[in-house]
Amino acid sequence: TKGVVTLDPGYKNTGACESAITFLDGEKGILRYRGYSIEELAEKATFLEVCYLLIFGELPTQQQLNKFHTDIKGQSHVDEDVKRILDGFPKSAHPMGVLSSLTSALVAFNPSSVNVDSEEDMYKAIVKILGKFPVLTAWTYRKRLGLPLDYGDDNLGYVDNFVKMMFKKPSGEYNSKQTVVDALDKLLILHADHEQNCSTSTVRIVGSSHAGLFVSLSAGIAALWGPLHGGANQAVIEMLEAIKEDGGDTKKFMAKAKDKDDPFRLMGFGHRVYKNFDPRAKIIKKAADDVLESMGIEDQVLDIAKGLEKEALEDSYFVDRKLYPNVDFYSGIIYRSLGIPVEMFTPMFALGRLPGWIAQWREMRLKKEPIGRPRQIYVGENLRSYVPMEER
Ligand code: SDX
Repeated sequence: TKGVVTLDPGYKNTGACESAITFLDGEKGILRYRGYSIEELAEKATFLEVCYLLIFGELPTQQQLNKFHTDIKGQSHVDEDVKRILDGFPKSAHPMGVLSSLTSALVAFNPSSVNVDSEEDMYKAIVKILGKFPVLTAWTYRKRLGLPLDYGDDNLGYVDNFVKMMFKKPSGEYNSKQTVVDALDKLLILHADHEQNCSTSTVRIVGSSHAGLFVSLSAGIAALWGPLHGGANQAVIEMLEAIKEDGGDTKKFMAKAKDKDDPFRLMGFGHRVYKNFDPRAKIIKKAADDVLESMGIEDQVLDIAKGLEKEALEDSYFVDRKLYPNVDFYSGIIYRSLGIPVEMFTPMFALGRLPGWIAQWREMRLKKEPIGRPRQIYVGENLRSYVPMEER
């Protein structure tokens, strides 16, 4: 602490705000949304119910949920000109960069969603983005495959409709197995919010300047893309595949992860808050077993993951630093089994985190939080005079 500011790189010990949305206990591995445990919500709720709960604070009645879904469906059309923007990206563009751009571009097609101050205007912007983001995600995925960009079926549930939009073949059929929808519903619930993580803090600080909801979310998508954050779910599978290609020798990769001179980290391990098992990882690990079993898939990568986990839990480097598997360690194995390609893993995280970002942005705006503007400790040059070019 020097003078008026306390140096806290990475905000490891800074409480940025008061929030009533999500409770985490890192020591005990507890995660609750609006007081409900994620274990119960993952088991008993639907993702759309959890969206409503996070944003408005209470579990919806059937009538409230029906109206919420109807309002969302009413706003799920995306202007055809957005396809022109999508056309501008090479097929090799990473979907997270495309989604961050398209989410920001939506402002141009929905100007009324920019300056939202009243709860009523916020609600309109919220149902718009909850309606349009799944479409943008599906279109971003399908564009890479050269598949038609259209809609699912409004008579389906929110997640079922997304699955249809993503996987519908030109003939119209798609993998409508309930196990696929149930697995995705559970994964999206488990990703829905996580208090002041990097991307949520980004959404809050961008929104604190009274920038609109869509651009605040676009910034959150960009932050989530990083491999230290949501991008880890893609990096985990790439790491597990590399270990498999290398003959499955996990010890070599464990040694690399512990080598201070080697930038390699064990992706999917460690967490800023959880110094115990990430409760989401526990649920996802079990779900991975169940989904693979129900689909009759033998995935060697899952066995490698379990081997890594076992070794790390017995390795003093990881135990001393309290490094356990986090939410990203097993999620990719389920996405893969559902036919979702690795570059779409982090977009799936973004789709899940959307209600959390929205809830936190709305809470920040309704509480009229001040603009985010941290201070610094200056360690640069003292006053000095300009040096003419010929004297440099
Ligand atoms: C998410 O914040 C959230 O809530 C995020 C999230 C959410 O829902 O929003 O939970 C989602 O982002 C999960 C995390 C996904 N990221 C990864 O799996 C990437 C690998 N993990 C690490 O990069 C790291 O653990 C972080 C980024 C998750 C946390 O970093 P911290 O809190 O800044 O910890 P640190 O980097 O200071 O590490 C502390 C020590 C260091 O060693 P020493 O300097 O003390 O000797 O642990 C070591 C690190 O080198 N370490 C690792 C490691 N993670 C930390 N060593 C090897 N492999 C790792 N994965």
